[in-house]
Amino acid sequence: LRRGTAAPDLAGRRVVVSAGGTREAIDPVRFLGNHSSGKQGYALARTAAARGADVTLVAANVSLPDPAGARVVRVGSAAELAEAMEAERRGADAVVMSAAVADFRPVRSVASKIKKSGAAPGPIELVENPDVLAGLVASRASEAPGQTIVGFAAETDDVVANGRAKLERKGCDLLVVNQVGGGRAFGTEDNQAVVLGADGSVTDIPTGPKDDLADRVWDLVVERLP
Ligand code: CTP
Ligand code: CA
Repeated sequence: LRRGTAAPDLAGRRVVVSAGGTREAIDPVRFLGNHSSGKQGYALARTAAARGADVTLVAANVSLPDPAGARVVRVGSAAELAEAMEAERRGADAVVMSAAVADFRPVRSVASKIKKSGAAPGPIELVENPDVLAGLVASRASEAPGQTIVGFAAETDDVVANGRAKLERKGCDLLVVNQVGGGRAFGTEDNQAVVLGADGSVTDIPTGPKDDLADRVWDLVVERLP
């Protein structure tokens, strides 16, 4: 299956992909963030568009050129990402949550820059963010019946066992599990994964370009579309 010559098996379908990493403000110039480059999510958006889908890409703090054929919605924080995903998922056939969402945010984001002069700052108190993926699953029956929902996870140790537990906890249809640690780094050009299905399926995707992994994920989504 060569890109560009692929069957347009997502023609007439609408898909929403989240990408990048959220940032949680501490003050006007500082944030809690993560190392997600957004490359895998952009590859998912690019390949879906190449297969004929109407693509919305919700991008959190990504510095990459817009993928051809996708509409890009930019967000910063987890709360903004949640709001954008809830709006964009309506009428979509599939949603893929490849963004790295901050699990916690500072309880308070102060309006003035924290200065080093004066008293030493206190600890940054954190509160848990809503789980966007679990929320999309919970509201699927009323908001988007039949929608295919895909999550991502990075795991160490027993990747399949950890992934299976996470899939069940989240309630999504597919979970794309990357093995991390052992020299694997963020921002690389290649990726590998095992994709776990709620139906018990296990699909190994060997190390290769992120566009190839994206195409394999869309193959699994296409199989599940009504
Ligand atoms: N996710 C989300 N909202 C959050 C946290 C995670 O939508 N607040 C999504 C991610 O986009 C990803 C999936 O959930 O698709 C799994 O994220 P992960 O961080 O692996 O799972 P957590 O449930 O946060 O578990 P933990 O970080 O403790 O392993
Ligand atoms: Ca997490």
